[in-house]
Order: sequence, then structure tokens, then C-alpha cells
Amino acid sequence: MGGTFDPVHLGHLHAAQYAREEFGIEKVLFMPAGLPPHKDNICLSDAAHRFNMVALSVKGNRYFGVSDFEILSRDTTYSIDTVKEIKSHMQDGAVLYFIIGADTAPFVKTWKSHTELEQLVTFIVVSRRGNEVKRNILKNCEILNAPVLEISSTEIRARIKEGKSVKYTVTDAAQNYIRDNALYGFYSSLYPKITRHLKTVLSERKFTHTLGVEKEAVRLCQMFGGNEEKARVAALLHDAAKNMPSDEKLAACKKYGIKLDSVLKSQPNLTHQFIGAKIAEDLFGITDSEILNAIKYHTTGRKNMSHLEKIIFVADCTEPYRSDYDGLAEIRAAAKESLDRAILVAIKFSIEYVKAKGQPLHPLSLEALEFTIQEGK
Ligand SMILES: [Fe+2]
Ligand SMILES: [Fe+2]
Repeated sequence: MGGTFDPVHLGHLHAAQYAREEFGIEKVLFMPAGLPPHKDNICLSDAAHRFNMVALSVKGNRYFGVSDFEILSRDTTYSIDTVKEIKSHMQDGAVLYFIIGADTAPFVKTWKSHTELEQLVTFIVVSRRGNEVKRNILKNCEILNAPVLEISSTEIRARIKEGKSVKYTVTDAAQNYIRDNALYGFYSSLYPKITRHLKTVLSERKFTHTLGVEKEAVRLCQMFGGNEEKARVAALLHDAAKNMPSDEKLAACKKYGIKLDSVLKSQPNLTHQFIGAKIAEDLFGITDSEILNAIKYHTTGRKNMSHLEKIIFVADCTEPYRSDYDGLAEIRAAAKESLDRAILVAIKFSIEYVKAKGQPLHPLSLEALEFTIQEGK
């Protein structure tokens, strides 16, 4: 069963299940297309993502499998080549079915080496119940009358972009994958909402700083890798609680169950990182733990930070609109080398800073420092 699977949805799985039972098929092999010859003007998602979503969606069904044959081939793949490849692994006399939609069937005649293809496979044309498909549409074909689920990948992508749910149209695993990798503009509908909110809760200076962190986080992703969409969301929300008056911060900590240790009690401002993460969850429905943790530890850092946590931590220090402070030039220079190096320098400077002010350093920062030094050895 071939397709772009951008993304794979329950309609695909349902058709495969029907076909398998109807024709006693031993195994349905899903074949995500690499560069399909018939869709060359369409911008496809990264092949690895499309493959992973299929793999996750068929996991646990021993009658279903996925092949990376087409996505791993560098050139445009033609069905004839794929079919020959699959055939070469099959026992003599075994039947190879090729499951296609009724909308694709009329075009098979335009495919490369279609006559040979029609000899090598038996097509299964999935037809909507009640919609007649002529049996002679292809030389060697079976018509599968199944209740076709009216789900389309195009519509799924559009819904995601609008911030709508795609639950019940794709598997839960695919849905989580789409969220975790911020595919199909997963967060694009949130940007205007977040920006509107920030304008009401942040000073002009902080708002500008926030946009600077967003810009810097994207730049760091381009330099060191990382998911730009997720970096943007984390950057935008990292200081969402920064301008709350102290009493409101304490009230928010109580509301969200944030425990106050002795350092937080003496420096309530530090709580803004924890409250920020809760705001992201509470007001904007963000559930991605990577984004939430990047907000949650952006000031103190912690040991074993994720890549996104590092990006936000460093971007917060080095964003382009920052007015000069002790260590800025050194941190920026270190950030040209690596994120870890920048974190090390940044924490060392903040130790100097809190010492000069006679304040204690948060234990999370000490852990981050020790861990980064150890890792660097
Ligand atoms: Fe902050
Ligand atoms: Fe900040």
C-alpha cells in the first residue's frame, strides 16, 4: 500500500485492514513514497517524519508493516521498481497485491511500465460502498467495497495549522508524534494569541527582550540544530510571568503548587521560570514537556539539560536587544563555539553576580554548573 502518508490516517489503516481480511493477505506493507513522480509540485514533509508516523501507527499489528525502500532511494521512485524489489523477496507463486484508491486507479495507465506492472501485481481498488468502479479499470484487479472513511491528509494538515484537534482521524501515537515534532505548523495558530497576551502582561522592554530571545533561539537552532517551532514557542513564553508583582508571583506559586525553597523565598523573582511553564500549560494548552521544561529552567538551568533547554537558556543571555552586562561579550563568544560552553560561562558570571549582591545561588544552577563541567571533561 503506497502513499505519501503526510500524515498516515485512520482511513489508510482502515482500508488496509479491510483489504487484508477480504483477500486473506498475509501482510500489508505500507510504503511511504520518497519523491513520488505524480506529486512533484507538492511540498512533502520530511520523509523520516512520514515514515516514523506510519511505523508508530502500525506498531503492535503483526499483519501490518512499513518499508523504507522508497524513502531511502535518492531518485524518484517508480512503482514498477518498488514492486520488483518486493517481488524479489517473495516466494515463487506468492501473490503481490497493490492496494490503491479508486481515485488513483484511472491514472495507473500513465505510470512507468504499467503493462509490466499489471502483470506483476493484482491491484486492489478501494472503492466507496455504492460507488461503482468498473472491474476492467485495470487488467488485473479486484474491487474492494469498503466503507471508506472520509478522512484526508490535506484536511488534517489544515486542521493542525488552525490549532484544531485531529483526534480520531489519526492514531494517538501519530498525534503525539505530530505534537512532539511540531509538524504541519502545529503552533502557528498560537503565535498571535501568545503575542496578544504578552503585550498585556509585559513591559515594553521585556516584550522587546522576548522577541529578541525568539529571534536568537531560532538562530541557535539553525546553528546547532533543534526544532525551530518549539524554540519559538518556548522563547515567546519564557518570561510570561517576569513582570508579575512579587505578591502575585507568590499567589501564582500557591495556585500552581510550586514549592518555595529558601532561595526562592529570598528571591521571588526566580519563580517566574516555574510560573511561566504553568502559564504555557494553563493558558495556552501546551503539553510538550520539552517546551515546558525549557521555560521552567531558563534562568537557573539544571543538570542534564535537553537541547531545547540549552537553546532557550543561552538565547536568553545572548539575544540581540540585550543592553550590555558583565559577561555578555564572553557568553556570546562562547555561544559561537557550543551551547555547553556558553552555559558554563553564563553560570560562572551569574555566580559572580549573586555573590556581589550577597545572594545565594539556586541549587539548580550549582547542579547545572557541576554537570556541565563534568560533561566537558
Ligand atoms: Fe527570565
Ligand atoms: Fe528572559
